[in-house]
Parts: sequence; C-alpha cells; structure tokens
Amino acid sequence: MKAKGRHNVVVPSKETTTLVVFGASGDLARRKVLPALQAAMGRGEVNGSVRVVGVGRSDMDDASFRAQLTSDPKTRHLGETSEWVRLDYSDQGAYSQLLASQDGSSQVVFYLATPPAVFPPILAGLASVGLNRRGDSSRRVVVEKPFGHDLASSRELNHQLQEAFTEDQIYRIDHYLAKDTVQNVLALRFSNAIFEAIWNRNLVQSVQITAAETDGIGSRAGYYDQSGAVRDMVQNHVLQLLALVAMEPPTTFDANDIRKSKLELLRAVRPIDPQLAVRGQYRGYLTEDGVGSGSRRETFVAAMVSVENWRWDGVPFFIRTGKSLRHRTTQVVIRFRDSPSLRLDGRRQRPIPTLLQIRIQPQEGITLRIGAKRPGTRFEMVPAGMNLEYSALSGSELPDAYEHVLTEVLSGVHTVFPSGDEIDRSWEIVADLIQSWERDGHPESYPPGSWGPEGADELVERLGRSRWLNPGDDLTPLSGK
Ligand code: BG6
Repeated sequence: MKAKGRHNVVVPSKETTTLVVFGASGDLARRKVLPALQAAMGRGEVNGSVRVVGVGRSDMDDASFRAQLTSDPKTRHLGETSEWVRLDYSDQGAYSQLLASQDGSSQVVFYLATPPAVFPPILAGLASVGLNRRGDSSRRVVVEKPFGHDLASSRELNHQLQEAFTEDQIYRIDHYLAKDTVQNVLALRFSNAIFEAIWNRNLVQSVQITAAETDGIGSRAGYYDQSGAVRDMVQNHVLQLLALVAMEPPTTFDANDIRKSKLELLRAVRPIDPQLAVRGQYRGYLTEDGVGSGSRRETFVAAMVSVENWRWDGVPFFIRTGKSLRHRTTQVVIRFRDSPSLRLDGRRQRPIPTLLQIRIQPQEGITLRIGAKRPGTRFEMVPAGMNLEYSALSGSELPDAYEHVLTEVLSGVHTVFPSGDEIDRSWEIVADLIQSWERDGHPESYPPGSWGPEGADELVERLGRSRWLNPGDDLTPLSGK
C-alpha cells in the first residue's frame, strides 16, 4: 500500500550502508536475513549500496565468509564486498575491531541475529566504543525475537537497548507484521469505508484468529521446550495481528500513529484468563530430541480474549495456534451477526452465517462468505463466497516478510516494528496464563495432524456458540443456534 506519509522517509539515492550482522554464519542469517537483502536489492527496493560485515565466533576470515555467501545463489551477489570479523561477544575489548565498519558509510545497521543471551554484551560492546552514536538515527540496531521471556526480562532488555540507543534507532522484529497480507488488513479496513461501518459490536458476533502449523518443533527443542506456544506465537504474532484487526483507525499511516493505535488496543485487551484457555501438546512431543522428560510445555493454545472498549465490548476474540496440526494456515475470520431466521412454508430457515475470512497464508486472499439462493425453482439458501485472490494483484511472487523488514530498516521506517511498550503490554496480557500453566496442570494431548485438543472445540462452542472455521469447511454448521 502506497499510503501517504508511510513511505516518504526514503534514503537519499547515494546512501552507503554497512549492515553488520551478528551471528552471520547462523541459521537465521543464512536462511532469512541475507537472502532477503539480496532479493530486496534485486527488486530495486534498496537505495544505494549495502556492504555486509559478518560478525561471529566462527573461525572464518573474509575469504571463507565470501565463499559461504557466493556458494548460495540466494546470497551470491552479497559476496564481493563482504567482510568477516571474528569476535567473542563477551570480550568488550574486542569491539574496537568493528570501528572500521563505519568508514565511508553514511549509515550503519547492527543486526542482532544471535540468541538473546548475548544481546546484552553486544549492546554494551557497541556502546563501549561509541558505535551506537546514541540519538543518531543513521546508526540503527535490529533485534530478533524472542524479546524477553516474560515481562521482567522484556523490560530489562528494553532498558539495555535504550541505554545504548534511542527509540528511533531501535527496530524490534515481529516478522508477522511484515507479511504483505498482514499489512493488507490495514488497507482493507481503512481504505474501504463500508467495512469500518460494520466493524464493531453491533454487527460482529465473534472473531477467530488461527495460526496453525503442520511442522513439529524440529530441531528447536532447546528453545521451544523453554518457551511453548504462548511465548513463541501468542505474545507476539497473534496479539499483533489481533491489534491490527481491532484497533481504532490511526490518524495517519505513519509508524508512530499505527503504533499508538495498536498500543491503545492492547491496553484494552484483558489479561488472558487461564479458565478461558486450553493448552495442548502433540503426541510424540516428549520423544523429540532435546525435550525434557515429562515436559508439560504446550505446543498448542486456544483462548478467548476480551477487548474491553467501546467498539468491542462483549465480542469474543478466539485465538488458537499450534504445531503439528492438520493444515498450515494463518487466518482471521470475522463472523457477523446472523440475520433473523424467517419462516418459509411454516418452517424456520436456518440463517447462513456471514463471514469475512482473511487468509494471511497460504492461498493469500479474502473471502466474504454469504448466503445465496440455490439456483432453481425452490427458495433455498446455500453458502457462497465472494473471493479476492491476493496473487491476482501481484505480478510476481509475494516478497518474503524479511524483505519488508530490511527495506524499512534501511530506509529508517518503523511501520512493521512493534514498540517496546506494545511488547511489554503483550507480556502483561499473557502473564497470568504463563504463570498458571507453569504452576500446575497438564496439557491435553492431541494427535499430530489433527486440529488440536477437543477442549479447543468445546471452548468455542461454549463461549461463542460457534465452531472453528478450518480450511475447506462447509459453513452451514457454523450456525450454532
Ligand atoms: C516464529 C516462531 O516466530 O514464527 C516459529 O518462533 C514459527 O515457531 C514461525 O514456526 C512461524 O512463522 P511463519 O512465517 O512460518 O508463519
């Protein structure tokens, strides 16, 4: 969306950027960050030139780092000018090696693609040699999730960041915000007045947000068994999505106004009540490599979330996310109030629910599901769909979220980055749930390839008089009256 004001902070065409990537030989940098940089440059989304400086503990030199980049077609073009700096993150004396990275650069971006445990020494190290240039927005720092482990650690990390950098220099990643179809939620809501008019408790019966994955935890037990689905997905991606769906219209599309609207909305979200949440663990999780014996960590969560404000009071927001589920799908479903059921030939006609299904991924698009008359001489209603396939709008493949992330960082724009306050508030929203689940009880087990534990279905039936909408479902039974 080329909204006025959002993209007008464009770097001058001759910007020379040094991108200093901490953890550059790691999985995230190799699979996501560096390929996205090359792709964004290939699309002409990056103005000026970018030189990559890889930093890490690996025993590499410039030549082997370049060889690593050029051997992969997705990073091949970054190879020529790149450099490697070998650094022990905790050795504060070693950071002066990075001073040369600034030479000839009009902007320098420090990208922390490392485990969070080493964020503090890296931040302190950069500050110790003055590389942070606190307050100078041509020096930027990018931090990956997880952003803390709970409210206290998130505040602590914010504090450490803000000691070294000012807010306009800091970019906290939530890659869901950078997905094209997530940004399209803003376009849908705020460039079509018809939706805003019905987007409230008067016409919306309930909202569902699903982020389902088919994969298990793979080789990430070390991280995941300490985190679980609430920390991994709800605290960040799901709540950010909910905020965009439910927030008030921002005054402008500038990052600050969007962040203000999201924060205001998150303040209206009640901390999730453990009584209104269901946790699950897929069968086989306990035998995954690296999972603690008898682990009670959840790989699935479903919950009812309440938004206590003028617009949404009384409208349940159902969220669910999990691993090892039947389909990979991220979607938002707005269910509108049923029409009155009229009689025909003395029989009450069951209303067909009107739904707006926003498919974030895959099969990106939007379908308005309505009741229509079945063709023929009888008056009979059937569910039908009015469909927008997002791919029809784009001539090429959708850019990866990380391309959007990098483009904004290199242009000094914060639209797809949550503020520290939003992140803190999100931790507050999940705090009771996390504490209660760590204290007692066990997750319900569910078979891999299912839609999670039965409790998740009961939750929606009980509190929403509805059921989850899954891909490919027939819609008629949704009418739970
Ligand atoms: C990450 C989580 O933030 O998001 C992963 O740590 C999850 O566990 C991933 O698989 C999902 O992202 P996407 O873009 O594949 O939906």
